[in-house]
Amino acid sequence: MTKILVTGGAGFIGSNFVRLLLERGGTEVVNLDALTYAGNLENLSEIEGEPGYTFVRGDIRDVGAMDAVFAAHRPEVVVHFAAESHVDRSVLDATEFVQTNVVGTQVLLDVSRRHGVGRFVHVSTDEVYGSLGPTGRFTEDSPLQPNSPYSASKTASDLLVRAAYHTHGQDVVTTRCSNNYGPYQFPEKLIPLMIANALEGKELPVYGDGKNVRDWIHVRDHCEAVAEVMARGRSGEVYNIGGDSERENLHVVREILRLAGRGEELIRYVKDRPGHDRRYAIDPTRMRDELGWRPKETFESGLEATFGWYVAQREWWERVRSGAYRDYYERQYGGRADA
Ligand code: NAD
Ligand code: TYD
Repeated sequence: MTKILVTGGAGFIGSNFVRLLLERGGTEVVNLDALTYAGNLENLSEIEGEPGYTFVRGDIRDVGAMDAVFAAHRPEVVVHFAAESHVDRSVLDATEFVQTNVVGTQVLLDVSRRHGVGRFVHVSTDEVYGSLGPTGRFTEDSPLQPNSPYSASKTASDLLVRAAYHTHGQDVVTTRCSNNYGPYQFPEKLIPLMIANALEGKELPVYGDGKNVRDWIHVRDHCEAVAEVMARGRSGEVYNIGGDSERENLHVVREILRLAGRGEELIRYVKDRPGHDRRYAIDPTRMRDELGWRPKETFESGLEATFGWYVAQREWWERVRSGAYRDYYERQYGGRADA
């Protein structure tokens, strides 16, 4: 049984990753999460109490708390998802982004080294490469040219991970993935926001001309890729992960309206995001050739399934939107001190 500590396991991708590990078996999972606005333990309520799964509430910026968690749980592997993840929030205030994404990552690297963690998997983003013109795709050798405070903070964390490898010989590996969609995504990101608004008959706010392109990947495919990198990725390397599914935002929004049986009159063009990256596209050749990984989901079937999930789980996102999900921790853990 390998003991894996997953940071940010109550968030969108982290909770899907924890579920994947537990389905596969053979690992013990410690889910470490501060439960910020984006952390929702209801995402994992069905596995609460399962053998081999432990939740610990803790903040990755807090060195003392991290030392105590690592001493108590002795993880062999760390998979680091915890981050402030929303570009628009970083435009409003970048402070938490620097503290969690940059300082928090360094704290985790140091604590992992002190406690003899074997492998440290750092989950990053294609946004560190900046914006593309109409052609070309990001490879692992593309220059790092982040444009938003969010992507700048992720780039800083990637460089600290790189430095830990070169300076301390730490066993680290970094993944850079394109835009994810799927179950349990917080409805501030494009796809769940548009689905929820379409289902409620509200306007769908499209930034700028709607022609920005994102390269979409189903969260399950991303999680399987991270598991491959964790098991077999080369130490010190970077692996780009993408779904080969470039789509213009307007195309995505129209598909959602079609699935919801709503008309285009709900589309509302709003002021563009400052510094809005035009196009992202990932070249996942290294993942394919070295690790034999390929995405399984196509964008069209994945979007339809995700739409179906949000229809069926209306209560989940209504509770997120109303803030009621935040009571779950108190109910489940009764205000108990961190496990
Ligand atoms: P999310 O916002 O849904 O979840 C982030 C989680 O981290 C939350 O559970 C939150 O409570 C936790 N967290 C935040 N600050 C913390 C702190 N100081 N200490 C401990 N926990 C803290 O994010 P997500 O979309 O699941 O993204 C997960 C990771 O994947 C991030 O590192 C992100 O940069 C990266 N990523 C995301 C995407 C995407 O499309 N969502 C694409 C590529 C990479
Ligand atoms: P988002 O989901 O915030 O991901 P990211 O900015 O990290 O790629 O946004 C995806 C795209 O959708 C991006 O081009 C911005 C655009 N967008 C809108 O047009 N309207 C919205 O309300 C949101 C949240 C995003």
